[in-house]
Order: sequence, then structure tokens, then C-alpha cells
Amino acid sequence: MTEFNTFAAQLLRKPREVSALAPSSPSLCQLMAGQIPHSARRVAEFGPGTGNITREILKLGIAPADLFLYEVNPVFCRMLRERHPDVSVFDEPAEKLASSGPAHVDAVVSGLPLLSMSASQQQAILSAAFSRLGPDGVYIQFTYGLFSPLRKSIAESLGLEFTRSPRVCRNLPPAVVYVFRRKRNWAG
Ligand SMILES: C[S@@+](CC[C@H](N)C(=O)[O-])C[C@H]1O[C@@H](n2cnc3c(N)ncnc32)[C@H](O)[C@@H]1O
Repeated sequence: MTEFNTFAAQLLRKPREVSALAPSSPSLCQLMAGQIPHSARRVAEFGPGTGNITREILKLGIAPADLFLYEVNPVFCRMLRERHPDVSVFDEPAEKLASSGPAHVDAVVSGLPLLSMSASQQQAILSAAFSRLGPDGVYIQFTYGLFSPLRKSIAESLGLEFTRSPRVCRNLPPAVVYVFRRKRNWAG
């Protein structure tokens, strides 16, 4: 089965979880990976799906042993393990980064459908990510929506600010990339 067919089959089976018409395009994947700081060594990826952003992260020179994937779909997990045997694939929800993953990461790259998640799930995911990110760490997220995919109250509770990219039209549907980081003066 091609990557697209596998994705489409899982979209039909689990529409809320997959929540995208197609895997992200090369333009979007490159823009996502390009937000990872040059100094980053360890990276976690949430919701890698068929692994198209994963490939771009590895192309940057992140060592497979320093990349940690969190994916709840067992079909995608199998595919990711076959393609990237040296990358750690956790068949767990992203929230588990806080308990099962590495003690520290420099960036989190997320393809999760944050917009369709409840406030408590967003809070759990972002709290897990920022419990493992240092002061210069970044959480990189794409969205198809018009506004930030993260609720304002959650961003405020974690002391986050963000930058956003222009809309990437070469993607189905067009998407925007948000980079969340801790405010410099945030006391926690
Ligand atoms: C919009 S797709 C993105 C796939 C891929 N990153 C891309 O850009 O084409 C969302 C992915 O998030 C996964 N997912 C949904 N909820 C999750 C959760 N709580 N933890 C980890 N993965 C999750 C889905 O199984 C799916 O692979």
C-alpha cells in the first residue's frame, strides 16, 4: 500500500484522530522541520502519521537515536518502525512524553489535531512538552485554522508566546505553522 493509501485508510477508520485530508506536503514538512533551532540535538515528534515530517527532521542531521516519536495509531507505528528502525517509536499518546520519554528535548514538532482536542487534552499535551523543553525549547505545530490552535488560557497558564508563518498554500488544505516558546520573563 502506498503512504497516501495507508493514510486514507486510517482517516476513514479514525477520522477524529487522523483529522487531515492527506499527509502534509513537502513544503509544509520542510517549513515545520526548518523551525527546529540549529543547536537542537534531541527532538520529540507528536503525531508523525506516515512519517513525512520525520524524514525532514532526520535530513537536518538529527541522529535517529535522538528522535522520539509518539503516535497512537498502531498501523502508523508499524510503518514508522519498519522505515526508521533506529528511531524510538512510542505507541502512546503525546501526553506520555512526561513519563516515558527522554528527560530533556530541544524541540517538539507536532502534527496533532490540537484544534479538535478538548481543553484538558491540550493542557496535558502542552504541559508534557514544556516539562521536557528547556528555556530555549520550542513547540512547533501546524494548523489549518485561522487562529492559534492552542486555547489562549492554556498558553497563558504555561507562559507561552508564539510566532506564526505565512499560510502554506501548497498543502491540502493550506496550513500555518506556529512556534510556541516560553516568555523570557515567565516565573512559572
Ligand atoms: C493530522 S495527522 C498528521 C500526520 C503527519 N504528521 C502529517 O503531517 O502528515 C495527525 C496524527 O496525529 C496522531 N494522533 C492523534 N492524537 C494523538 C495523540 N493524542 N498522541 C499521539 N498521536 C496522536 C494521529 O494518529 C495522526 O497520525
